[in-house]
Amino acid sequence: MKALILSGGKGTRLRPLTYSGAKQLVPVANRPILFYCIDNIAQVGIKDVGIIISPETGNEIKEAVGDGNLWNIKIQYITQDEPGGLAHAVKVAKDFLEDSPFVMYLGDNIIGGGISRFLQDFEKNSPDALILLKEVEEPKSFGVAEVSTNGNVLSLIEKPEKPLSNLALVGIYIFSPNIHRAIERIKPSRRGELEITDAVQELINMGLPVESFILDTWWLDTGKKDDLLTANAIVLDEWLKVDIGGSIDNASKILGRVAIGKGSVIKGSSIRGPVIIGENTFIENSFIGPYSSIGNNVKIRHSCVEHSVIMDGSELIDIERMEDSLIGRRVKLFRNSRHKALRLMIGDDSVVEV
Ligand code: DAU
Repeated sequence: MKALILSGGKGTRLRPLTYSGAKQLVPVANRPILFYCIDNIAQVGIKDVGIIISPETGNEIKEAVGDGNLWNIKIQYITQDEPGGLAHAVKVAKDFLEDSPFVMYLGDNIIGGGISRFLQDFEKNSPDALILLKEVEEPKSFGVAEVSTNGNVLSLIEKPEKPLSNLALVGIYIFSPNIHRAIERIKPSRRGELEITDAVQELINMGLPVESFILDTWWLDTGKKDDLLTANAIVLDEWLKVDIGGSIDNASKILGRVAIGKGSVIKGSSIRGPVIIGENTFIENSFIGPYSSIGNNVKIRHSCVEHSVIMDGSELIDIERMEDSLIGRRVKLFRNSRHKALRLMIGDDSVVEV
């Protein structure tokens, strides 16, 4: 069994955070989203992992992930020259995949509970595809499946106008090598992509067995701000362990589960967990409330932050109250009491609510 992680694409939905970076590297609880996919793959003992990268963000991904040593796996990077669709990515990876069955994992998805149960089902029943599904309220934004009572998949449509069910395709699939035959037979969709959903439908048309597994744990597709904040909150809730690496003065109070990285300094502040704070970050006379992730080299003074993600190198000064916010890298946010008017320098596609 091999694994193929899709970490290419354009990532336009997290603009402006992903103008300069890969959306799969946006941090959740101070770790890139992609690391959680790799964790799940390594946990089931898969050693051969291919990662699809794009020419624009590939180097950044290689630098963050490395050769797989961190997980004791072997990683091969495969460049997809243009985002031609999920099935196109499989085509590009054909030399790496050879005739092996494989787990395909979209690098911007996070699920609770790992993937071992799906793998066991696949190994027991040997279908040509096992797809992971989850009931959602707005199936229109996803691939949608129609399933018989015994779990066989009857049909699939990518982002349908009129969904036949509320079962969305979670971005995790397990395939036999027959998927390559199906991909050879499909044509680009209306949006000009070779869709994996169409390839799985083609397996069904070819009379091959396609099974499903309905996910009973949480799943988040982290493409949007609120999804990312929710993913951050869930991951902090489930996985954060107390770990104090920095220094905290006597005037500060730490409550609940809090992790503070090496070289960070907390002065005259209250931190109420679950909260993670990266390395070499400075927090003074501030309150950091539950479900916040603060990156490395951040400075926060005289401010109140709750349920927010603040990435590396940013500064917050005299911000009375900030919540439900996603702050990119090297952002400066401060109150200037001499001016009543807002004075802003904000990049393209930013969202500011005052
Ligand atoms: O999140 C689940 C959904 O993911 C499924 O319900 C859909 O059936 C599936 O098509 C997919 O839809 P998205 O529109 O969310 O896919 P997105 O373009 O965001 O790409 C998903 C990941 O795959 C992302 O990490 C980028 C990567 N990718 C995407 C394309 C189109 C590639 O590596 N190459 C590509 O050509």
